[in-house]
Amino acid sequence: MSDAARVRWDRRHAAVVDVAAMPPDALRGREALLPAGGRALDVACGRGGVSRWLAGHGFTVDAVDVSGAGLAAAAAAAGDAVRWWHHDLDLGLPPDCAGPYDVVVCQRFRDPALYPALRSALAPGGLLVITVLSEVGEEPGRFRAPAGELPAAFADLEVLAHTEGDGEASLVGRRRSPDA
Ligand SMILES: C[S@@+](CC[C@H](N)C(=O)[O-])C[C@H]1O[C@@H](n2cnc3c(N)ncnc32)[C@H](O)[C@@H]1O
Repeated sequence: MSDAARVRWDRRHAAVVDVAAMPPDALRGREALLPAGGRALDVACGRGGVSRWLAGHGFTVDAVDVSGAGLAAAAAAAGDAVRWWHHDLDLGLPPDCAGPYDVVVCQRFRDPALYPALRSALAPGGLLVITVLSEVGEEPGRFRAPAGELPAAFADLEVLAHTEGDGEASLVGRRRSPDA
């Protein structure tokens, strides 16, 4: 990521002193899909609302973001169940965040080069919850996924939910267990 982009994210996150714990958008109404605790990874966690929600649901969370200001705001509001990783995801996942995870959340951050690592970070039976901007229902743009990107990228997962429209795409998928 460029320094200018990092400064932009820092400015945006620095304006926030507290964050609410909130479920990932793609899991709203589908909370029953969540495993009963374990390890979770929140990719590009921003102000950490999803990380806090996962921690409140019994998960030990690794949360990664490039913005020190975002992580500072997030950490101020969270307990010990979240470890915060200041890291540029252009370099891939941090080496200490390779998994295996029972839940991997990636919300409103799109980097197709990272998709194989997200998939590999899942434990057998682990849940991927991902939401990206989409070209479906919107003008094409470099930050937006073309139609069908998520189900194609995660074709080997058991897709439990997939929606695409109004400029957003999301997928909830489970890594198949070897004996399934
Ligand atoms: C739209 S916010 C989403 C935050 C959070 N996932 C949510 O749903 O509230 C995008 C986040 O991606 C982070 N980000 C952007 N590029 C990144 C990169 N190369 N490495 C790590 N984090 C990055 C930004 O700092 C920002 O917190």
